[in-house]
Amino acid sequence: MNIRFERTPLAQVEAGALIVLAFEDAAPVTGAACDAVLAELYASGEYKGKPMDLVLVHAPAGLAARRVILAGCGKRDGLKAATVRKAVGAALRLAKGKTKSAAVALAKPEQTPDLVAAATSGAILGEFEPEQHKTNGDKAEKRIDDCLIAVGGATPGLESAFHHARVIAESQNFTRELVNEPGNLLPPLELAARAQAMAGPLGLGCDILDRDRMAQLGMGSLLGVAQGSAFPPALIVLTYEPAGQAAMGHLGIIGKGVTFDTGGVSIKPSDGMEKMKYDMAGGAAAIGAMRAIAQLKPPVKVTALIPAVENHVGGKAQRPGDIVKSLNGKTVEVLNTDAEGRLILIDAITYAQRELGVTHMIDAATLTGSIVVALGHVHIGAFSNDDEWYGAVLAASQSAAETMWRMPLDDDYKKQLESPFADLQNIGTRWGGSITAAYFLKEFADPTPWVHLDIAGTAWLDEGKPWMAKGPTGVCVRTFVELAMGWKG
Ligand code: BES
Ligand code: MN
Ligand code: ZN
Repeated sequence: MNIRFERTPLAQVEAGALIVLAFEDAAPVTGAACDAVLAELYASGEYKGKPMDLVLVHAPAGLAARRVILAGCGKRDGLKAATVRKAVGAALRLAKGKTKSAAVALAKPEQTPDLVAAATSGAILGEFEPEQHKTNGDKAEKRIDDCLIAVGGATPGLESAFHHARVIAESQNFTRELVNEPGNLLPPLELAARAQAMAGPLGLGCDILDRDRMAQLGMGSLLGVAQGSAFPPALIVLTYEPAGQAAMGHLGIIGKGVTFDTGGVSIKPSDGMEKMKYDMAGGAAAIGAMRAIAQLKPPVKVTALIPAVENHVGGKAQRPGDIVKSLNGKTVEVLNTDAEGRLILIDAITYAQRELGVTHMIDAATLTGSIVVALGHVHIGAFSNDDEWYGAVLAASQSAAETMWRMPLDDDYKKQLESPFADLQNIGTRWGGSITAAYFLKEFADPTPWVHLDIAGTAWLDEGKPWMAKGPTGVCVRTFVELAMGWKG
């Protein structure tokens, strides 16, 4: 979808569907003759302007647009950017299949940088469909080709808000498309190739460590997971260096990149296994965030690390009871080959600290089913070894409107990870599974300030929302970008 920002008065916007924000308090005023119809709509009580209430009116008198869609946002007082993002997304999705051109018009009080950004990302995220492999024609027919964000007034600063929001939302869709790729079409080296193809033109550094280099370094934990697959593994490293004076610090973003998780020899039940193509959602979020960071140029050095492997069964696959040696020297007894995410992440975490010198780490991983039991599909599960760093991440997630909930990480959980035969074992008991998984990572992340985000419940929507298609969400892209953009070194 081609999206533009323009200073055009509402009545003159030419579009198949003009999206106008509507509130509970009063009917919107467009200044044109159709206002009488809108007022009547409100007076009838049939339309109330509640959040996500939508109504479509044809041939609005006095407007250049063919249709008006009122996008309900609730009470005007205390209006949140996230409400506008969702309402605009839902309205754009309503327009799909009816027209190929949409516009969003913001009235005077809504002409703020925050709300221009919200409308922009709402439209871009709402337009996305996880249909890159459908070949039938109705796919193309349903797409919106052009979208205009129209503002009548002269309020300054809106262009840059539009630009930032556009870059971030398009990067989030880039991530969603990667996450939606099935295991056969996006093995580790293909994920690496996609990252590289993105990185070059945007001026990011890209280093891809292959199996030999990882073996030389001693990444036995990652390679143990990879050995069961016919597809070779890769550690993808993307680097952004600010031009000019850089702020203190070096941000490391690490994302789990399991391109398909069968569970390995501790194989998963076949029911629902197809969803395990999204087990690289953390890695894809890291790649998408770098796509935005390269363009928005925060003042801090950022490195993304994506350990990419397929977790498969086969004659070479690792067995329960195998003992592997991780890059930092600790040995791990692999009691369950399905707890593979933590095994690949620890080698990336050690590499980030030791070889690249990152000062602050954040990782995103579809790590455990337990986090879905604990928090459902609403909150990201967050874990940290550093309160101050967690505070910075929480603040970034709030401006990004990606909700997270901090989970405990006390030393009492450590006992579950004691192995009789190695330094650690890779699983605990059934109870508190997302916490023991996080604790396992913490053993390798300490003493560097680190936040772990378990996104197993939030990276994939089983059912679509009015403002978003079902499937990959692209969660964490916005938080990662905010974190880099708001860096205080
Ligand atoms: N990729 C899964 C976690 C997962 C589950 C993601 C459901 C998305 C939806 C992970 O590799 C896994 O298999 N975890 C196991 C750990 C267990 C063996 C200790 C789990 O959560 O069951
Ligand atoms: Mn697994
Ligand atoms: Zn997994």
